Amino acid sequence: SAEVRVGLLGLGTVGTGVVSIISRHQEELRHQVGCPVTVTKVLVRDKQKHRPVDFDGAFITDDINDVLTDPEIDIIIEVMGGVESTREHLLTALKNGKHVVTANKDLMALYGSELLKVAAENGCDLYYEASVAGGIPIIRSLCDGLAADRITKMMGIVNGTTNYILTKMIQEGSSYEDVLKQAQELGFAESDPTADVEGLDAARKMAILATLGFSMPVGLDDVSVRGISSVTKSDLEYCDQLGYTMKLIGLAKRDDGRVEVSVEPTLLPKTHPLAAVHNEYNAVYVYGEAVGETMFYGPGAGSLPTATAVVSDLVTVMKNMRLGVSGRTVQGPLHERVLKQDNE
Ligand code: NAP
Ligand code: HSE
Repeated sequence: SAEVRVGLLGLGTVGTGVVSIISRHQEELRHQVGCPVTVTKVLVRDKQKHRPVDFDGAFITDDINDVLTDPEIDIIIEVMGGVESTREHLLTALKNGKHVVTANKDLMALYGSELLKVAAENGCDLYYEASVAGGIPIIRSLCDGLAADRITKMMGIVNGTTNYILTKMIQEGSSYEDVLKQAQELGFAESDPTADVEGLDAARKMAILATLGFSMPVGLDDVSVRGISSVTKSDLEYCDQLGYTMKLIGLAKRDDGRVEVSVEPTLLPKTHPLAAVHNEYNAVYVYGEAVGETMFYGPGAGSLPTATAVVSDLVTVMKNMRLGVSGRTVQGPLHERVLKQDNE
């Protein structure tokens, strides 16, 4: 059966993991979808840079058009980051009939509804599981596993970098600057880590979760945000003495059509389950009227966990292609409810 060809935009922390999983799990992937999958072109900024993966003959380019205009490419995986130009590239890809998988929460939080609409109009899939909570299949769970329920609240840790920083500051007494540097070296932080430490990355993820969970368009402006950049070691020591720990908590709740979404450093009793979520791990409680309380836990950042979510989306797209149902399976509600304004 025919091979599926992938164009990969970005070969950094996540892109490297994607290449590695596709190559190492070729047998499992073929078993899932019944045909081989190959990364045929890879976009990078610097073609001379040493890459820690074997490309298996893929063509490396620094010209986006080499990838977007290649008629042989069926699916674009976007793991390069960026917002405005990346939006243009993905719109072009979708209009050219290419399915898209992305890990880009900045883009999805700002332009998700536009991209999903254009995907549907062009009979293309657009999946973005890796954009929230790394390796935890939280988007799938909200859109499929809990689709029958009325979600009332979501609460948890959705940024790996800040959780890593807080964990190491509390457990090892490390300095904020040192652990931020470690989080960057481990590939957890965004290219500009301000987005992590100021809570913006978590805010983008909470906006995506709230939009999906509550079937309402929730934008970044609807999220109140405070990060951890001003938290000191002595703040954390003081909390510890009182029996508390500090976590950057994202909260989204709705009540009578009104939605509240926030991200802020929060004191939790040390016995609280979220207090036991360490390092780059994430955990999200989802409360549904019918199901009650559920909790999703796992690695929230890093190369292979994030790439697992990306390649699982790739498998879904390939299954859709084989079943001939592309474009009808775009995740999220088909009809959006309107968010009530504060003054209503
Ligand atoms: P990264 O390590 O900085 O890698 C980015 C890659 O994209 C690099 O290979 C870079 O090329 C390439 N690139 C960036 N801008 C480009 C441009 N304008 N033209 C051509 N190539 C370009 O980033 P990452 O950590 O893999 O993250 C990628 C995306 O995944 C981001 O949207 C991020 O928010 C998201 N994400 C990351 C994680 C994580 O744990 N890291 C988890 C979930 C989601 P060079 O290699 O030549 O510099
Ligand atoms: N910078 C992000 C984090 C990557 O630390 O959670 C995963 O989305």
